[in-house]
Amino acid sequence: MNLRNKKILLTGATGGIGTALVEQLTKEGATILAHGRNAAKLDSLTAAYKNVVPLVGDLSSQEDLDMLLNAIETHDRDLDILILNAGIQQHIELASDLHGMEKTKHEMTVNALIPMQLSSALLPLLLERDEAAVVGVTSLLAYAPKQSAPVYSASKAALKSFLQALGYQLEGTSVQVIEWIPPLVDTPMTEGRGTRKMTPEDCAARFTKSLLHSRRVCSPGVGRFIPALLRLAPGFIQKKIREPDSPTTI
Ligand SMILES: NC(=O)c1ccc[n+]([C@@H]2O[C@H](COP(=O)([O-])OP(=O)(O)OC[C@H]3O[C@@H](n4cnc5c(N)ncnc54)[C@H](OP(=O)(O)O)[C@@H]3O)[C@@H](O)[C@H]2O)c1
Repeated sequence: MNLRNKKILLTGATGGIGTALVEQLTKEGATILAHGRNAAKLDSLTAAYKNVVPLVGDLSSQEDLDMLLNAIETHDRDLDILILNAGIQQHIELASDLHGMEKTKHEMTVNALIPMQLSSALLPLLLERDEAAVVGVTSLLAYAPKQSAPVYSASKAALKSFLQALGYQLEGTSVQVIEWIPPLVDTPMTEGRGTRKMTPEDCAARFTKSLLHSRRVCSPGVGRFIPALLRLAPGFIQKKIREPDSPTTI
């Protein structure tokens, strides 16, 4: 897929992988509608890169979400690509966390429901383009859950499954559905966890390259072996991934 002059809505543009994606995608000539909650970070992105349009808002607020969709329908009907990158990961002890259900609803909303809502709402615009894509950022935890992140794992599994079914619905159209599966990447989300992390810049470069080659799935680094290993030795891999302090923690 040629990215020159493509218009891309990127959620989570203020985070580790998102910010690195802004750099890579603008290098390829795309215009980025950069969404995030942090206005100051968005301003620094617009100052650093050409063709970045800041969109401030909280995806868990219905009012902000409506404003975002209205803004796109008014000013950016020529949207080509939607990258669903924003996400959160909370440690939730299900038996003892007094705010467990509140956190559960919030995490499922940001990681799964909002990506589904954005995809559905923006599909009519994407379907009018000659070459378009919906890209979802999932996780290896969508394939095997981690003990300390039950809701995160479930939310990413839901997103993964949604993307697969959306892909079936869009067969034969101009809209590709793509899944990006980061390995453990050194961002604020993984601060203090794990070792041998991929840099956000490396991860974003690999994702961008896979988009240029129209690959349906991109799982860089150690992640590319996980689906096959899960078939060969499911018990071993599930144990490696579930342990909170495992070096392969993701
Ligand atoms: N890092 C990893 O190892 C790893 C591994 C697998 C999958 N992933 C996935 O990769 C994606 C990017 O993660 P990251 O590591 O770059 O995380 P990050 O640095 O924590 O960035 C997360 C981004 O999501 C945004 N966000 C969170 N809640 C939001 C909300 N309610 N409304 C609007 N934006 C919100 C954050 O905005 P603010 O700046 O306003 O907080 C930030 O831009 C996520 O979907 C994550 O699940 C990451």
